[in-house]
Amino acid sequence: MNNDKPVFSVRNVVMDFKVRGKSFFSSQKTLRALNDISFDLYRGESLAIVGESGCGKSTICRIAMRFYNPSSGSMIFEDQDIHKLSGEKLKKYRQKAQMIFQDPFSSLNPLHNIYYHLERPLKLYHPCDRKTMKAKMDEYLTMVGLTPPEEQGQKNPHQLSGGQKQRAYLARILAVGADVIFADEPTSMLDVSIRLGVLNLMNKLKLEMNKSFIYITHDIATARYFADRIIVLYAGHMVEWGDVDKVVCNPKHPYTKLLIAAAPDPEREGPVELPVKKSEETEISVWTPESKGCPFKNRCPVAKESCFEVFPEAKEVSEGQYIRCIHE
Ligand SMILES: Nc1ncnc2c1ncn2[C@@H]1O[C@H](COP(=O)(O)OP(=O)(O)OP(=O)(O)O)[C@@H](O)[C@H]1O
Ligand code: SF4
Ligand SMILES: [Mg+2]
Repeated sequence: MNNDKPVFSVRNVVMDFKVRGKSFFSSQKTLRALNDISFDLYRGESLAIVGESGCGKSTICRIAMRFYNPSSGSMIFEDQDIHKLSGEKLKKYRQKAQMIFQDPFSSLNPLHNIYYHLERPLKLYHPCDRKTMKAKMDEYLTMVGLTPPEEQGQKNPHQLSGGQKQRAYLARILAVGADVIFADEPTSMLDVSIRLGVLNLMNKLKLEMNKSFIYITHDIATARYFADRIIVLYAGHMVEWGDVDKVVCNPKHPYTKLLIAAAPDPEREGPVELPVKKSEETEISVWTPESKGCPFKNRCPVAKESCFEVFPEAKEVSEGQYIRCIHE
């Protein structure tokens, strides 16, 4: 149990989208992309959010970046609901909460060099004379491993590799002065060989500069490597969450068990025999406001009749480890 005050909190967030079926004439439906999402993020902490495609990971980030208002619930920064901020308070939130995207090729302006990308936020948030600014920019470039800074700072984005671009973007985040960083699959478009370098850099920023990370990934192995705590998301629901070692080494929810069994493991001998239910429904379940029972019922290998009726409330299964399952 962490007794510090959280740096960012999410309370009972629900996100509904109006969607149409595949045919043009099909009627509009409500898709509940997120249901009752609540968590705290602490200073100097990394919290991984894992789950398969379409489970709602990026939607959490987009709401935190104020691209959408949640249908209900709130996100709290410095005791304020971020969707009610305006003026100076909104400016401060935009400075303190930043996002790093999956695609390093689109996050930097191809027309300008790396110094330009650092100079702009410094001018906006930390105005100072030219000499101090140059020293700060070089310090940030060195911090993210883009050295020698005088050479790397002059480069345009196309002269950098994917991993170097993510490093340059992290240097920009340092220049802005963000404390909370939403990293949406920041390494998934990079070669395997350079992914680790970017994760190690994020870890360094966490440990040495007390930055807090929400780390979105579908890769449970990198979540375990980088995160302190983890949330496993399924069809917009938090199905298991807690200390990362506990959840990964001793998963309690049937979906987490399947997710971990399916993750590549060089030490495992032979193929994994997954007790996956032979069901017509292999796609992620779609949740609507009218849905009943457990969100995982159609794919759960141990589902019982009651799972189709009862919505599983959160319960603590070991200290700091929670699941939503009525039978575990
Ligand atoms: N603007 C939108 N309008 C309608 N539906 C949306 C919208 N944004 C997201 N969705 C739906 O919400 C669900 C969650 O999407 P989201 O992008 O958050 O998933 P994700 O977990 O990030 O997936 P991926 O791993 O593929 O990036 C999906 O079913 C998606 O189709
Ligand atoms: S509540 Fe039932 S369907 Fe849902 S995970 Fe638990 S056993 Fe499976
Ligand atoms: Mg996504």
